[in-house]
Amino acid sequence: MEKKFFVFLAVPFWVYLQAAPISFAADKPGNVQKGVEVHKKQCLRCHGAEGKGDGPASRLLKVKPADWRDPARMSSLSDEDLYRLVKEGGAAAGKSKMMPAFGAKLNDQEIYDVIAFVKSLHSKAK
Ligand code: HEC
Repeated sequence: MEKKFFVFLAVPFWVYLQAAPISFAADKPGNVQKGVEVHKKQCLRCHGAEGKGDGPASRLLKVKPADWRDPARMSSLSDEDLYRLVKEGGAAAGKSKMMPAFGAKLNDQEIYDVIAFVKSLHSKAK
């Protein structure tokens, strides 16, 4: 009886451990769930809740952000490109300076987390 109960708990916990921390590079582990929180606070106003590039401030942007769900547009950006874009801003990564730098607002872990979220949108897309 007790043994069965242990298995009952252990199996879902193991599944959770396998699935929970999604990392996009061995040395840069990002947590998608934490990334969602960073996104809501810092990125949503331009990039939109679902990363479609349709946030409330996006109408004011001369250069429109990409749809993060589109693998064709997003897969050209390497992990390093994404990191530089977020940390140093668009201008440092050959993109528009309308994309602000977050190096002063976010620490590296938060940047990895938000990148993991961004990547989860197109790597999961059909
Ligand atoms: C003030 C509006 C604004 C905010 C806030 C903002 N971005 Fe952007 N972002 C842009 C614009 C505009 C571009 C398009 C730049 C280009 O294509 O030249 C862009 C581009 C990007 C790109 C390249 C792919 C794309 O969408 O074109 C990534 C990745 C990105 N931003 C991530 C983030 C993350 C992560 C945050 C939050 C930490 C964030 N951005 C916050 C405006 C913003």
